[in-house]
Amino acid sequence: MRIFLDTANIEEIKAAAELGIISGVTTNPSLVAREGRPLRQVIEEICQLVDGPISAEVISQETPGMLKEARELASIHPNVVIKIPITTEGLKAVKILSQEGIKTNVTLVFSANQALLAALAGATFVSPFIGRLDDVGQEGMEVLHDVVSIFAQYGLSTEIIAASIRHPLHVLEAARLGADIATVPYSVLLQMIKHPLTDVGLARFLADWEKLKVK
Ligand code: E4P
Repeated sequence: MRIFLDTANIEEIKAAAELGIISGVTTNPSLVAREGRPLRQVIEEICQLVDGPISAEVISQETPGMLKEARELASIHPNVVIKIPITTEGLKAVKILSQEGIKTNVTLVFSANQALLAALAGATFVSPFIGRLDDVGQEGMEVLHDVVSIFAQYGLSTEIIAASIRHPLHVLEAARLGADIATVPYSVLLQMIKHPLTDVGLARFLADWEKLKVK
């Protein structure tokens, strides 16, 4: 399973890129708004930092507006992936964009049926939102499990991004289920690196090393 970073913050992306483990970035309108800078500028900068799929979301709700925004964003860099919400207008846009060779990431997916439709429309990626389902008392991982099984059963090539990840267990379970990608906030990435036994073990090794007296 690959790891994408779910942020529009350039400092977080730089820090994560230095670790050498992230292979893409996902943004959304909320994450970009938090940075207080134009979307185009943010996406251009991210493309210079990470050589992999970089998702940028459209704001329009109608197909023609989505297509206009998508084509503008796609012209920034070949790695740009257009995030489109799973709506009737969104599906139409995904179909047209896939025919034009523009990569898409269908977002705000909360059911396996939505994921199936996105794949049939030609989406490059589909993003089931795990944490937001958990928040309303529905098991996000059950939806992810269904999506993984259905895509495998029918040999659908759309890649599955486990999104709305809130903690390391979400990443672990997504990997167990066979998601292609998990897109994680920087804070979760840091939590994944840490283990208390690693800290204790390292401190003990260093303390023992200090005791060594070479004669
Ligand atoms: C996915 O691409 C979204 O940007 C993101 O995972 C949403 O996460 P949230 O539910 O924590 O806002």
